[in-house]
Amino acid sequence: MMHTNPGYQPHSYQGLLTVSKRMQQFMAKVEKVARTNASVLLRGETGTGKEMVARYIHRCSPRGVGAFSAVNCAALSGELMASELFGHKKGAFTGATHDRRGLLELTNGGSLFLDEIAEMPLDIQARLLRVLQDRCFTPLGSSQLMTTDIRLISATHQSLRKRVAEGAFREDLMYRVRVIPMFLPKLVERGEDLSMLIWHFIDRFNAISERRIESIDSKAWNALMSYEWPGNVRELSNVIEYCHAIGDGSVLLFDDLNPDLKGEGPADEQLYFDDENERDQILELLRRYRGRKLEVAQKLGISRATLWRKLKLYGID
Ligand SMILES: Nc1ncnc2c1ncn2[C@@H]1O[C@H](COP(=O)(O)OP(=O)(O)O)[C@@H](O)[C@H]1O
Ligand SMILES: [Mg+2]
Repeated sequence: MMHTNPGYQPHSYQGLLTVSKRMQQFMAKVEKVARTNASVLLRGETGTGKEMVARYIHRCSPRGVGAFSAVNCAALSGELMASELFGHKKGAFTGATHDRRGLLELTNGGSLFLDEIAEMPLDIQARLLRVLQDRCFTPLGSSQLMTTDIRLISATHQSLRKRVAEGAFREDLMYRVRVIPMFLPKLVERGEDLSMLIWHFIDRFNAISERRIESIDSKAWNALMSYEWPGNVRELSNVIEYCHAIGDGSVLLFDDLNPDLKGEGPADEQLYFDDENERDQILELLRRYRGRKLEVAQKLGISRATLWRKLKLYGID
């Protein structure tokens, strides 16, 4: 059986596409929150669209015409992050050969996006707290007190409360940054978004290459549908780009998928299934492994969570 594009008409929130009710409710809340000045903390796995949502909040806010700046707290050393945010005077540290204006100054009147905020070093957390409380800061090596008016949008894939318990995050700062906490659902929790986005990315790569994929064969489709997508939408886009580039012709085949999608085990050992015999195959493996689900999942090259969903789907206990 071949799968073809059913012609989805997704809602688009400045490029964030969805057909899922749950996501539409989430985005309605996002639009409401955007109109305020409150600090938003976006929580979600990597690739779920946190940065897209942050930009959308900014665009929909009264500050939308102002600047939007993004800083990845996991990617910068403490010193670099401090100078990036607060700026510095010439000679403030080795290598500071010129004055530099920080993002807090440059983003005045706009929104500052702090990605992976759970990774922010403690000394910078203390300085940031001051900015949020008093709206003022001093650039490194300067004695001049500057004021700034920024709206803070943060993102994390970890629990800030857990980081607080570990002593790695200030509790007072946690309350300041997550006035409005919002949880982005995983891709596999978004109903038909997975199928819709598969076709969306296929269309996108169709448009910019010679190859035109018009259908997906059922083995490939099953693999796409049963995969866990730990990297969420980012991973999906990469996977589609990969198989678009690696294969030929108008059909996306199982062989075109990258190794993650095919499962890890050696090729001949690996079992693949289609809709009809999947239930029988699972039952057979459960018998062979005396009900040890982890081994069954490994044999099938799927996660335990996926196996669990399939057991429920097929009514196997
Ligand atoms: N709902 C969506 N529709 C279209 N593209 C999306 C969607 N969600 C995420 N993306 C794309 O996936 C990639 C990852 O999104 P991003 O916002 O950077 O995720 P995160 O910050 O949570 O890691 C980006 O290229 C983004 O454009
Ligand atoms: Mg990100």
